[in-house]
Amino acid sequence: MLKPFAARKHVKMQEVLMHPEAEGPEFHYYMIRGGKEKQNITVWETGMVGGEYIKTYGHYHVGKLNETYRIIQGEGIALLQTRKKDEAGNPTDDEIESFKAIKVKTDDSVFIPSETGHLVANIGKVWLVTSDDSTVSFEEADPVSLPGHADYEAVKKMRGFAYYVIEEDSQIVLVKNPTYKVVPEPIWLTPEEYARQL
Ligand SMILES: [Fe+2]
Repeated sequence: MLKPFAARKHVKMQEVLMHPEAEGPEFHYYMIRGGKEKQNITVWETGMVGGEYIKTYGHYHVGKLNETYRIIQGEGIALLQTRKKDEAGNPTDDEIESFKAIKVKTDDSVFIPSETGHLVANIGKVWLVTSDDSTVSFEEADPVSLPGHADYEAVKKMRGFAYYVIEEDSQIVLVKNPTYKVVPEPIWLTPEEYARQL
């Protein structure tokens, strides 16, 4: 069954907001899902919720799946985080190994390696629009419940990513999420600097 359209509601986003009690728009973002061939389109609402820029929920990939996001219009901050691993090699959800923040705008691309958690916040005045080549399963009963390749539980448990993107004195600032046990200082990179590191 083809279910290409999904929208992320405020009630779901409350799980990962810095201030879950704050007022927000009914929908934070919209997805049109076409998978590897047709691409997936995401459209972000503008503005803030409790001082935090509107963002996607954020997830890790299950298995060896990477993807590339291309910015079609707007301005955003892409957050990329990786988890430390325990002796058995399993990721520790509350201990972060690396945290990168990349400021992106129209025509920029960001490659997301497998095992790297990612979300994007809209810091602009217009809809932020991206396309990505992530695989999707159209067999899912509920398309809003998210692509099958993605692990949202780790992010839900930690009430979001290791940092929240907020505005303070007209500046974009990252605020540490106190739910995490170990969090490194964030590394700010341009898309070009980030691409050179890969
Ligand atoms: Fe993804």
